[in-house]
Amino acid sequence: MQKKLIKIIKRAGKILKKGFYSNKSVSFKAKKDLVTKYDIAVENYLKKEFSKYFKEFNIIAEESDNSNIEFNNSIIIDPIDGTTNFVNGVPHTAISVGVYKDKKPYIGVVYNPILDELYFAKVGKGAFINGEKLKVSKEKILQKSLLATGFPYSSGTNNEDLKDVLIKIENILPHCQDLRRLGSASIDLCFVSKGVFEGYYEMNLKPWDVAAGIIILSEAGGKISNIEGNSFDMFKDKYIVATNGKIHDELLSKLDI
Ligand code: IPD
Ligand code: CA
Ligand code: CA
Repeated sequence: MQKKLIKIIKRAGKILKKGFYSNKSVSFKAKKDLVTKYDIAVENYLKKEFSKYFKEFNIIAEESDNSNIEFNNSIIIDPIDGTTNFVNGVPHTAISVGVYKDKKPYIGVVYNPILDELYFAKVGKGAFINGEKLKVSKEKILQKSLLATGFPYSSGTNNEDLKDVLIKIENILPHCQDLRRLGSASIDLCFVSKGVFEGYYEMNLKPWDVAAGIIILSEAGGKISNIEGNSFDMFKDKYIVATNGKIHDELLSKLDI
């Protein structure tokens, strides 16, 4: 499956890349939540090819109606993760594909066609960027850690969420090296896998934002939990906390207040 999967995702990357360098008309799903014809085109292409070659899997995809699809043997797609970056020409945008067998992680692929960076992991076989092994950072001290986060689209309409974002920044910023907001959850998880970031947290993400990245990070030696420090459920948990493992508890102690 893995060779074919990568081949299809690389081809879909050509659609994303063409869109990145073209004029795009933008529609709004919500006040801050954008969608373009390229999100739809990448998703349609992936769905068409995956359903042709991987018939034993159903498909859960961001721009589709998933209401009648049961998570089990599933391929979870975010056709463009980092759409705001994509629209504005920030090259931090990717296709994210997580494959689950019997609800269990199997393969994760995150592909940024602009930088031609393909992150891949298969459970038990390690994580790789363009074929080179990925390993999380060894840093143990939160104060020396570069962290990342994201701001939920709901921050434009939900005052509770906005307040929560701000309180967490206030608690964390003095205690880490610095905090980044790069705008693509799947790549943020890959950057923790690569040792660029020591940790990452965010609220209100959807399964397609993280389905691939959490497989890649686990295989690179990282740790993922919800905000209470329990095992993370991508369908239910409000927060994801993802780190190199070494700063996990200290980061949790600043977040879970
Ligand atoms: C978004 C990105 C962003 C995160 C948002 C996500 P999208 O996905 O991952 O980094 O902060 O919460 O929804 O909408 O670009 O696919
Ligand atoms: Ca996304
Ligand atoms: Ca998306």
